[in-house]
Amino acid sequence: MNHFDYVNGQLQAEQVPVAEIAAQVGTPFYCYSTATLVRHYTVFTQALAEAGLYAQVCFALKANPNVAVVRTFAQLGAGADVVSEGELRRALAAGVPVDRIVFSGVGKTEAELTFAVAKGIMQINVESEPELEALSKIATARGIRMPIAIRVNPDVDAGTHAKITTGKKENKFGIEWTRAHEVYTKARALPGIEVVGIACHIGSQLTDVEPFRQAFLRVRDLVAMLRADGFHIRRLDLGGGLGIPYESEEPPHPAVYAKAIKDTLGDLGCKIVLEPGRLLVGNAGILVSRVIYVKEGATRTFLITDAAMNDLMRPALYEAHHTIEPVIEPAKDAPRLPVDVVGPVCETGDTFAKQRSLPPIQAGDLIVLRTAGAYGAAMSSTYNTRPLVPEVLVKDNGFAVVRARPSFDDMLALESLPDWL
Ligand code: LLP
Repeated sequence: MNHFDYVNGQLQAEQVPVAEIAAQVGTPFYCYSTATLVRHYTVFTQALAEAGLYAQVCFALKANPNVAVVRTFAQLGAGADVVSEGELRRALAAGVPVDRIVFSGVGKTEAELTFAVAKGIMQINVESEPELEALSKIATARGIRMPIAIRVNPDVDAGTHAKITTGKKENKFGIEWTRAHEVYTKARALPGIEVVGIACHIGSQLTDVEPFRQAFLRVRDLVAMLRADGFHIRRLDLGGGLGIPYESEEPPHPAVYAKAIKDTLGDLGCKIVLEPGRLLVGNAGILVSRVIYVKEGATRTFLITDAAMNDLMRPALYEAHHTIEPVIEPAKDAPRLPVDVVGPVCETGDTFAKQRSLPPIQAGDLIVLRTAGAYGAAMSSTYNTRPLVPEVLVKDNGFAVVRARPSFDDMLALESLPDWL
């Protein structure tokens, strides 16, 4: 469910015609709907509450780190899951309270750990023994014990795209399942560490609840084992990963996911921490682009858009599907013809869709790529010296540019010529 619909033949974001934003902001741009963000957060937290879970949702900033988006969630009570000092600074700038911030990631630097410890965030999810030792030293130097969870790798196949599966033993993430007890014992002996919980994240865009259930059962076994050994395990961070429909997927409803948590871990008296990213923002964003040319190729027709792979990498990187629609509503009986939708970047990978059935679209028309709110702007780059595109947040009948388009001068300002040139 989202708030991008045709009204009187024009695509609107809530009550604002997308074409009106395009006229003011220029294309391409990302457009987010506040009502959709709020709805997704509310459906998710209600599902957890209805399952009787004591839970804290920490929005995974990596999916959409825009400060206005993060603040929208923070005002609803969300915390943040961050994976770098940059994301931690964004969470703080957005007003997320420090006691709702979790720091995850496989390669946190000493500087990043020091910053997180100094800020007094809720928890650091530690992914290796060297990280544990480095963190203990940093915390000890400040005279504190840092609350941590150890991220365990449960060796469960999430059944998702190979590039975004994280819970198999051959993946770089977490401490292998079978060694977890040993590493927890080591952690307990370190002076700067306070073990408070277990963390686990098996992958992204899961469309089946079963892998979650398997992973949660392993977490359950580990809780029993650690408690029997005197550990005070009181927080379980179950990561993110719940999928969304891009095309024909039918991911489990948050209520089904919440029930799986309740059934497997609900009786342990632990606070549940969740790190959803995609689920909260995916359908709340579209990428708006203008068709520059319609080119008749030797064997197919190309719609060449002013958005490109650098603006939305997911199709090039994961063969991801994003629904494409014109901003002017096509007639119900409009013919549909297969076209390739491509950007201007100089590689064949710069293709948003191959042989996609679309109604007639002319040069100059506006189109949107849907479900682009997660890992869209977040993963964009300036490849081909294309400026990062603006981000716009809509609320009811108004909108605001929440990230401006940099000028070419801005882009060149960080570069300088050495004195021998
Ligand atoms: N927690 C951890 C530790 C993670 O690694 C991730 C995602 C999340 C939470 C949030 O997962 P989500 O709820 O969004 O599935 N760029 C890829 C997705 C990469 C996901 C990386 N980790 C894509 O565009 O599909």
